[in-house]
Amino acid sequence: MPSGDVPPAVPPPAVDLEGVAVGYGGQTVLRDLSLTVPRGSFVGIVGPSGSGKTTLLRLLTGRAARHQGRVEVLGRAVQPSNVPAGVGYVPQLEAVDWEFPVTVEQVVLLGEAATSAPVPWFSRGEKQRARALLERLGLGGLERRRIRELSGGQRQRMFLARALLRDAELLLLDEPTSGVDLATRRDVLELLGQLHHEGLTVVLTTHDLNFVAAHLPRVVCLNQVITADGPPAEVLTPDALQRTFGAPLQVLRDGDRIVVVDAEQVELHDAAAHRRDPVHHDPARHDPSRHDPARHDPARQEDGPRRDGRQGHDEVELPW
Ligand SMILES: Nc1ncnc2c1ncn2[C@@H]1O[C@H](COP(=O)(O)OP(=O)(O)O)[C@@H](O)[C@H]1O
Ligand SMILES: [Mg+2]
Repeated sequence: MPSGDVPPAVPPPAVDLEGVAVGYGGQTVLRDLSLTVPRGSFVGIVGPSGSGKTTLLRLLTGRAARHQGRVEVLGRAVQPSNVPAGVGYVPQLEAVDWEFPVTVEQVVLLGEAATSAPVPWFSRGEKQRARALLERLGLGGLERRRIRELSGGQRQRMFLARALLRDAELLLLDEPTSGVDLATRRDVLELLGQLHHEGLTVVLTTHDLNFVAAHLPRVVCLNQVITADGPPAEVLTPDALQRTFGAPLQVLRDGDRIVVVDAEQVELHDAAAHRRDPVHHDPARHDPSRHDPARHDPARQEDGPRRDGRQGHDEVELPW
């Protein structure tokens, strides 16, 4: 390039990982990780329980125990134990101690404390902004509520308000589709769609393959390493799913739409239907949406929250 020519300013990707390994103690949880998420993407990370989804998000928020390799978020190297500027994190609801005696407003504002003041004392301007955001997210009037009184969807939106108050450009959400009912899931998804439309980069983890297949343009399959990466209709193949989940999964295709089902259940269903009605076999029985969702998503069966509502090895996540 002749000197004097300035290359067009391409903003650095939202996430840029190269040759990354992450572990706890002596155990390596993620390895050979190279991943680029351009700004403005909407990406779903799927993998079974223990595959390292939460660890990956922790890495991006500077909270992974130890790591090697290049970890850049929004063009800057991530520093240990600092949530990078411009990053909003929505923890998995089951990982939060909801009995902690704080109000919605405190949680939302404490997200701001890291960037504005060393003590949790907030200006009127900060409070007004927080209230406006809560209003926008449908939480108007709930500022003084204790967090334990919120519904699942409200809890998630509270963390989204916290992220937006930090002027997040990159939203990281850990399992936003788990622990909430279907209507809430749809609301949260709609809200994420809007935020994405406004220019935010969204990266979420989930073990719900069909959610990703139906709604997101890009899926990254993870099980210690990246096992597949691309548009769901291309990468969610039985082979890739076997590599990721270690279980035989079947992919039903209808044009661009795909539905992933547990191959063993399809076989059992087929056999049962055949025994009941060997001639008139009702095709609706194959409709996986008629299965119990907890059963038709094979990854989910092993990935539910523990009875005490906390994740196996995860530390309890306080809401700030
Ligand atoms: N704080 C921790 N200390 C030690 N091991 C951990 C910790 N958090 C997670 N792990 C281990 O790291 C692996 C990946 O966990 P995690 O990232 O939580 O997976 P996922 O979110 O996909 O379920 C698991 O084997 C888990 O036991
Ligand atoms: Mg997790």
